[in-house]
Amino acid sequence: MIKKGIILAGGKGTRMSPLTKAVNKQLLPIYDKPLIFYPLSVLMLAKIRDILIIVNKGQLNQYKKIIPNGNNLGIKITYLEQSYPKGLPDAFILGEKFIGKENVSLILGDNFFYGQNLTKQLEKNTKLKKGARIILHKVNKPELYGVAKINKNKVLKIQEKPKKFLSDLAITGLYFFDNKVVRYAKELKPSKRGEIEIVDLINKYKKNKNLSADIIGRGGAWLDTGSIEDFYKTSAFVSAIENRQGFKIACLEEIALNNGWIKKLEIQNAINFYGNCDYSNYLKRISR
Ligand code: TTP
Repeated sequence: MIKKGIILAGGKGTRMSPLTKAVNKQLLPIYDKPLIFYPLSVLMLAKIRDILIIVNKGQLNQYKKIIPNGNNLGIKITYLEQSYPKGLPDAFILGEKFIGKENVSLILGDNFFYGQNLTKQLEKNTKLKKGARIILHKVNKPELYGVAKINKNKVLKIQEKPKKFLSDLAITGLYFFDNKVVRYAKELKPSKRGEIEIVDLINKYKKNKNLSADIIGRGGAWLDTGSIEDFYKTSAFVSAIENRQGFKIACLEEIALNNGWIKKLEIQNAINFYGNCDYSNYLKRISR
């Protein structure tokens, strides 16, 4: 069972400047809550309770204001600062001590997942014992993403932003790795753009025939919120679902309560913490 997870929540946020000049992208709102709530909710749905959040140097205090330490959610949160964005696999170099001898999941701080089977699918993938698993989702414009060509759950080829069609299955920002990931990450050399690349890391597993894939089908949604346009589309998506159904997406306290990690007392504390707002009203409703 994978019990540890990392959220990579630093980054330059270049595409969203000037919004990201003073505030990190993951602290900006997706509809009614900060973006960071969404990837955190995914790890919590996967029943992962030991979580490392990697943030930009100098931003720790802002994060701690909104997610102090996880006690209120029945989880353990550790923070680490990244001095500058060295590339996604840096998560495993910075996180070496946190990971220890265990397997680990990584989610990018700006990735949004939603769908009926999500929890079951997450739990299935945390059973990974050996190798690496990538999570794929069909997209309309594969040339904009890292994509994977597969046969059943075996990965035949992966390529970053292919000019010629290879597959329309994009590699999402959710990954499951065995403990070799730390060693492999340390072996990586920076690419032309000066970052160590997740594709190179995954390719190491592929070379050793230890890479598998799982697909989020059309009943599920994966949105990445890297550009301003995507950001607002994701907000609109959350607003539409929440207002229609009356359920909130990524209400952290609700997930913790459903998982049996916290009791109604913690919900009451959360209501006091957030103050008089729509999110608190929702917490009042679910604790009744
Ligand atoms: P990217 O989309 O590669 O980068 P970014 O979010 O900074 O945006 P831009 O391209 O507009 O500059 O990163 C994906 C996620 O991973 C995002 O949430 C930021 C995070 N990240 C880090 O925390 N550290 C890193 O070294 C990198 C490369 C990304």
